[in-house]
Amino acid sequence: MKILLDTAHIEDIKKYNDIYDIAGVTSNPTILSREKKDFFPLIQEIRSIIPDKELHVQVTGNTCEEMLKEAKAITHAVGKETYIKVPTNEEGIKTIKQLKSSGYHVTATAIYMPQQAMLAATVGADYVAPYFNRMNNINVDSKKAIQEIAWLFEHYHCDTKILAASFKNTQQIMDAFLAGAHTVTASPELYTQMVENPMIDSAIAGFSQDWIHTYGNKKIYELI
Ligand code: G3P
Repeated sequence: MKILLDTAHIEDIKKYNDIYDIAGVTSNPTILSREKKDFFPLIQEIRSIIPDKELHVQVTGNTCEEMLKEAKAITHAVGKETYIKVPTNEEGIKTIKQLKSSGYHVTATAIYMPQQAMLAATVGADYVAPYFNRMNNINVDSKKAIQEIAWLFEHYHCDTKILAASFKNTQQIMDAFLAGAHTVTASPELYTQMVENPMIDSAIAGFSQDWIHTYGNKKIYELI
């Protein structure tokens, strides 16, 4: 299981990279647009915070030719180990095939159907990114879709991994892992929500109260 941050917000990347064992950062044009910063300086700044971790950057072109040029420019700026995110339509499949034959790391994104994942895997995508919440929004059973993709990859001994994305709540993240996703990427706040709950706060307050009642304000290291 690996978790990534689906954000381009520098302060959040620094903060969450410090707290959690983040495997990397993903973004898309919508996420980048929220930061209102120039594209290359922004992805370079993100790269400088996570020099040895995964960085997934999406291309925006509509043709294979454009996407290949964008991939070249992105890897020139932030390194060849960067994952190029390519939307999985027919032009995208063609692009993924060519990028893989040139040695790029590739994430096939905008997956709404297992069929897209299957085709992306046949051309060697490193990751496929099924959109959990967006699938739900169009009445596609996201858990079932991920289960099917996971079954296909396992049954056919495929190296492609599932990087589930598009989450609106923490249960969706759990469901994606339970369905067989190897990795998820989510907005930082959702990771916080997983460990924030009034019951947790109340348990911690109870322990503190009992400690103070017996040992006063001294900490464990002061009692040795
Ligand atoms: O990075 C792609 C994916 O996370 C999209 O998420 O929230 O726009 O559905 P969302």
